[in-house]
Amino acid sequence: MYKILITITFINFGAITFVFNSVDTLLIMTKQELIKLEALTKHYTVGSEVVRALRAVSLSIYENEYVALMGPSGSGKSTLMNILGCLDSPTSGSYYLNNKDVSKMVDNELAEIRNKEIGFVFQTFNLLPRSTALDNVALPLIYSGVGKANRSEQAHKVLDQVGLSDRTHHQPNELSGGQRQRVAIARALVNNPSIILADEPTGNLDSKTSIEIMGLFQEIHKAGNTIILVTHEEDIALHAHRVIRLLDGEVESDVINPNPTTIKKHIAQPSL
Ligand SMILES: Nc1ncnc2c1ncn2[C@@H]1O[C@H](COP(=O)(O)OP(=O)(O)OP(=O)(O)O)[C@@H](O)[C@H]1O
Ligand SMILES: [Mg+2]
Repeated sequence: MYKILITITFINFGAITFVFNSVDTLLIMTKQELIKLEALTKHYTVGSEVVRALRAVSLSIYENEYVALMGPSGSGKSTLMNILGCLDSPTSGSYYLNNKDVSKMVDNELAEIRNKEIGFVFQTFNLLPRSTALDNVALPLIYSGVGKANRSEQAHKVLDQVGLSDRTHHQPNELSGGQRQRVAIARALVNNPSIILADEPTGNLDSKTSIEIMGLFQEIHKAGNTIILVTHEEDIALHAHRVIRLLDGEVESDVINPNPTTIKKHIAQPSL
């Protein structure tokens, strides 16, 4: 089956955005601009060499968008995700998150924004091996100063949302790969963040489990979350509603996917 991708242009006037597609149709979106990058660069100095990992990246991402970030190895995807996730600062340019200029913030301000606004999902799950699913999910709430009873209640709620209410006391090595990733997704959701950032979330999973995880992202997106997902796989990217490709640290293309792949079956069933 062929899918048509349409190039889009955003012209932003506050909360109202005029979007022109490649056939010059005017679409009007009334979504809030969540992320705005202006001429963002990131340079790494290694010995006498300067690696220009990002070169003047400018783009906007609106609330409840579902974006796939693609590009060859070394094109700058993780560098961009680290900056979007406030794990790193740009060399130059601006990054506005919810209208706040994050690029000028110092470490403790970044840590606060990161905890409040961002949920991370990694390829390697990054769970604490000796902690239960419940404790792994509740961990970000400790940093937010939430009391024990509320932590447990909120962690149970998101574990239920990802279909793992019957695995709350299992440690990561007592879970399948897909279940581990669902725990990681629950942990990303527990603080009710503005954005979910996922760097190759299906990279360590077989194709059936990858589809389950994409079904879960679909549910999360439907519930109103904004998702930015890095992937190397074209079929995974086609679940997203917009595909941004990087090449040598620059945006090579930015297209909407008018016909995203959807997963019919609700997959977040209690596991057997
Ligand atoms: N900490 C660092 N110090 C120096 N150079 C770095 C550092 N991190 C990344 N780079 C370089 O920056 C460029 C972009 O790297 P990045 O990790 O963002 O690529 P990527 O698109 O995520 O690749 P992959 O698909 O392999 O994960 C690469 O050339 C890389 O070697
Ligand atoms: Mg990477």
